[in-house]
Amino acid sequence: MTEAARVTIIDHPILRARLTTLRDKTTSAEIFAEQLREISALMLFEMTRTISTDPVAVETPLAIASGARLARPLVLVPILRAGLAMVDGMVRILPGVSIGHIGMYRNEETLEPQQYYFKFPSCLDKADVLLVDPMLATGNSAITAVSLLKKQGASSIRYACVISCPEGIRAFTAAHPDVPVFTAAVDERLNERGYIVPGLGDAGDRYFGTV
Ligand code: URA
Repeated sequence: MTEAARVTIIDHPILRARLTTLRDKTTSAEIFAEQLREISALMLFEMTRTISTDPVAVETPLAIASGARLARPLVLVPILRAGLAMVDGMVRILPGVSIGHIGMYRNEETLEPQQYYFKFPSCLDKADVLLVDPMLATGNSAITAVSLLKKQGASSIRYACVISCPEGIRAFTAAHPDVPVFTAAVDERLNERGYIVPGLGDAGDRYFGTV
């Protein structure tokens, strides 16, 4: 499987406009949070386009109509803390969805992920898992998160990040070639501190107002 085959760049004028607001350093924390939630909800549609449905009949006021219901449970898994921002947007479309959590922070010297928390629902092996984190930088956290999900039995995993970079995409698709990646933008590069350039800065700090 080639890298290109596993990476979907969701290019849409509304997403591009919202992403521009996110990138703008003068955007307030309140507007940043609102736009990131809405971008995440829009990305969810593309991310789940190919999940399976079962046929179901429903009675309208006039007749029987054929419809669909999701064939497997969906589980949303944010990589804490910035991933929570994407979950906030997605649960509006999927109220009541199960949410697993993976707690990781980046060691600012080694750029390696440090794990501190994991909690998953027991149905992971039967579920379509949606792993989310706004920034795919080195790829280390996402690679570790997917390895953990696989170890817990997950076999259908999709990964969404709002902004990615070539270095992160290369590392992630090499480590997990079976996991499709959905991103709204592939930026130019990673800098020496592990930040995406031009990017938007630290997504967690901007979302939670801890800049
Ligand atoms: N995490 C962020 O929040 N921003 C980056 O640019 C890279 C990692």
